[in-house]
Amino acid sequence: MRGLPQVFDVKKRPWIQPGNASVEHVAEVVRRCPSGALHYRLEEGPPEEPEQPTRVAFVANGPINLRGDLSIEVYGGDGMREVRASLCRCGQTENEPFCDKTCSRSGSRAEPQGGKND
Ligand code: FES
Repeated sequence: MRGLPQVFDVKKRPWIQPGNASVEHVAEVVRRCPSGALHYRLEEGPPEEPEQPTRVAFVANGPINLRGDLSIEVYGGDGMREVRASLCRCGQTENEPFCDKTCSRSGSRAEPQGGKND
């Protein structure tokens, strides 16, 4: 949102106004979204390419961010293909297996007990 405030403004409805910037600029900012909550699809053009190699990043006291050609299988549900995802590791999300930012609101620690930060 900070990368393109004229397009992403949570105080407006709808909060995404893609016509306020070029297609390329909106797509570039969406690709920076670590959670994968934002996606884009071009009317003409290729789909978003997954990063190669797949990247896994542990956020301090937060989620595990993944980038790549991801196949995420949720217990009891269908699998989904993603190019970016942010997985919960604190156990407090209400949108398993994804981080819903409860970790940042609650100030909870997402590091496993007995980890190197204890
Ligand atoms: S790590 Fe963010 S809600 Fe669990």
